[in-house]
Amino acid sequence: MRVEDLTSESEKLYCVCLEDWSEDIKEAGKHKEKWYQRMKDKGLGVKIARDDNDEIGGMIQYIPIEHSFVDGKDLYLINCIWVHGHKQGRGNFQKKGLGKALLAAAEEDVKARGAKGIVAWGLMLPFFMRASWFKKQGYKPIDRLGLQVLLWKPFNEEAIPPKWIKQKKKPVIVPGKVTVTAFINGWCPAQNIAFERAKRASAEFGDKVVFQEYGTYDRETFLEWGLSDVLFVDGKQIRTGPPPTYESIKRIIEKKVKKLNQGTVA
Ligand SMILES: CC(C)(COP(=O)(O)OP(=O)(O)OC[C@H]1O[C@@H](n2cnc3c(N)ncnc32)[C@H](O)[C@@H]1OP(=O)(O)O)[C@@H](O)C(=O)NCCC(=O)NCCS
Repeated sequence: MRVEDLTSESEKLYCVCLEDWSEDIKEAGKHKEKWYQRMKDKGLGVKIARDDNDEIGGMIQYIPIEHSFVDGKDLYLINCIWVHGHKQGRGNFQKKGLGKALLAAAEEDVKARGAKGIVAWGLMLPFFMRASWFKKQGYKPIDRLGLQVLLWKPFNEEAIPPKWIKQKKKPVIVPGKVTVTAFINGWCPAQNIAFERAKRASAEFGDKVVFQEYGTYDRETFLEWGLSDVLFVDGKQIRTGPPPTYESIKRIIEKKVKKLNQGTVA
């Protein structure tokens, strides 16, 4: 097994989070490529792990925290670590040491860049990016936002603890219409799929639905709202991880449109 930097060969695979085999990922659009092009000159770090058969099975991506969705200084944030675990496509590469090796390589890289510490985020639930996994790897919980935990590993005494940035504004609902408000950062294909499905479903209802789109890769926009990847229908947040099916998003919007047509308040 070995960990290496991104190459022109692995760049494409990285942009689809190693899921080139997936039909769903095709719905994610070009958001991650665009994000990657923007972030690669702003300190984005990517490492790729290969197993003993030289197959790519894992990736980790981390950025200077000043460009992330977290408040902090002189630290790096791990957006995500992913060791391919699906049976389909590439197959399951988990529990073979790739994850630990990727994390160690990212920490070493971030230290060499002169950062004062490294930060990860995880969920308090036993799936997706688990906070408990980072805890086991020596990361200390430092802040919480709902079920999301921020964890960190300071490298020296000067490191300042990072904090979650909270929601600052609510979407503005357009009277007489169904308002779909979508915030998209770009780094996460799962979120990009949810965004694209919501956009496509909204378009099906013509001028009954207003689709408001905010690109939060622009940090000013992110800081104005305190929202990175979030979807609202008439101001109500819709769960987007894992991405809802196209049909379920459409159903939510359709219900609101029907109420509009009946002249009742949703
Ligand atoms: C968490 C993750 C990165 C670990 O990578 P991995 O290659 O499977 O883990 P490793 O083989 O390097 O194991 C490292 C340690 O984690 C433990 N571990 C791995 N998977 C685990 C699991 N599902 N539950 C509990 N512990 C686990 C191993 O037992 C090992 O423990 P040790 O430190 O005592 O030896 C990987 O399982 C993963 O990608 N999970 C999904 C995370 C995710 O959803 N990411 C976002 C995708 S968009």
